[in-house]
Amino acid sequence: MNIRSVVRGVGHYLPERIVENAEFEGKLDTSDEWIRSRTGIERRHFAAEGEMTSHLAIKAAEAALKDAGLQAADIDAIVVATSTPDFTFPSVATMVQAGLGSTHGFAYDVQAVCAGFVFALTNANGLILSGQAERVLVIGAETFSRIMDWEDRSTCVLFGDGAGAVVLEAAEGRGNRDDRGILSSDLHSDGRYRELLYVDGGVSSNGKAGHLRMQGNQVFRHAVTKLAQTAHTALDKIGLTGADVDWLVPHQANSRIISATADKMGLPMERVVLTVQDHGNTSAASIPLALSVAKEQGKLHAGNLVVVEAIGGGLAWGAVVLRW
Ligand code: UT7
Repeated sequence: MNIRSVVRGVGHYLPERIVENAEFEGKLDTSDEWIRSRTGIERRHFAAEGEMTSHLAIKAAEAALKDAGLQAADIDAIVVATSTPDFTFPSVATMVQAGLGSTHGFAYDVQAVCAGFVFALTNANGLILSGQAERVLVIGAETFSRIMDWEDRSTCVLFGDGAGAVVLEAAEGRGNRDDRGILSSDLHSDGRYRELLYVDGGVSSNGKAGHLRMQGNQVFRHAVTKLAQTAHTALDKIGLTGADVDWLVPHQANSRIISATADKMGLPMERVVLTVQDHGNTSAASIPLALSVAKEQGKLHAGNLVVVEAIGGGLAWGAVVLRW
């Protein structure tokens, strides 16, 4: 018997407030035209005052449970990918557990910045394959608006808030690449590049929350090579290539990075899920948000081969191949 981690449900939540590019024009030396043409971003959502990462995560989790037709008590583990937790501790995941009214199982956070959901998905797959959990709620949730330097036009126009969630469930497969569920994973990190993208605050350094700092063009350079490479490696592990992919669901940071990656994989943009125009970069939330939106749009069908990939602070990057 071969166990696979199959996606049983997916859901998302976006805060109510939508901020169009034009809103930045009066405050900064920037333009809708620059933001749109350099990034593909048109608008993003920002959390309301007092609305925290756990609140977004709980709403996304409820939507994913509803989509799966399950109750919170059916979930054995909750893994939340976030770099913007409500508090230093406890984890956002334990707040989600309590928010869902569950005392069953266990919950913890994973922090790999924008690659967080890819790492969390791989981690949750490990919980299922090792028999520690049958159903895992995997959530990406962020409030990056809280770590923006509003005077830095090179970063503050890029990010947004939101949350997405999937329910993974153990299912029997045949052990081949036709199985539904997670088929392969490829993860990397290289801490030598930590200064390309970081937050200049933290508990153990200066006791502040800090602001996001990024050398955007350097990160861009790494992204356009590393993302296609990791996607290729993950596919190669199971003897597949870009030609076999039905949907590329990439981290949504920049439409130019996304199209360059798709191009290297030999995929036309018709097979790429693009949400960056409406969400901006929501870090670890971007992939589950994109999966949920794609499902709502009727794009994802049982049996589709889906590749998710992301890169972010660390640097940390990776890809997961799954059959929907
Ligand atoms: O999610 C985690 C991973 N992060 C990413 O994947 C982000 C990767 N990087 C990027 O998406 C892009 O590098 C950016 C969108 C951040 C920047 O685009 P770029 O084409 O790499 O531009 P640049 O940083 O090389 O800057 C070009 C020019 C500069 O002006 P000068 O020096 O040429 O005069 C910037 O000062 O654009 C200027 N600029 C802006 N101008 C208007 C930077 N931000 C803005 C802005 N409005 N908001």
